[in-house]
Amino acid sequence: MLMTMRKAAIFISALAFSAFGLFAQDELATYQTWMKTAAGANGALRAAVTAKDTAAITENSTKMAEAFDSMAKFWATKHKDDAVKFAETARDAAKSVPTASPEEQTAALAKIGGTCRGCHTPYRDGSKFKE
Ligand code: HEC
Repeated sequence: MLMTMRKAAIFISALAFSAFGLFAQDELATYQTWMKTAAGANGALRAAVTAKDTAAITENSTKMAEAFDSMAKFWATKHKDDAVKFAETARDAAKSVPTASPEEQTAALAKIGGTCRGCHTPYRDGSKFKE
């Protein structure tokens, strides 16, 4: 029991420590570009799915998949497996949308939406990335 608590304490402090200094200044600027592209494409993709606008669906699905692919590679260099996973999940779900049925599209959009918060909780809100 004591052992377990000690391990947990070490784990938590390791987490707190790892939230700092992940980004170099130029990396952060690049990352923000990908993130803005992905977030913009996410909104546009949702609207395109609602409107059943095939051309816009394809365009924004590609844009989003590329941005999340870049983010996945970025997180891989930081050895943040959970962040890689979130980015890859978003990438693969985005890629699936153009050829998916309407039900599958809704599911894929929900899956993408889940990754935003999943990744932001450990890697955005609680961090000092913006300093
Ligand atoms: C793999 C991790 C990850 C995923 C998945 C992710 N984000 Fe982010 N996002 C981040 C990080 C880290 C930042 C903070 C970057 C910084 O400090 O500027 C961020 C920042 C942002 C910003 C602010 C960008 C800026 O600097 O102006 C927006 C908007 C955003 N995310 C939207 C989204 C949306 C929408 C989704 C889901 C479709 C999403 N994010 C999914 C990691 C992620």
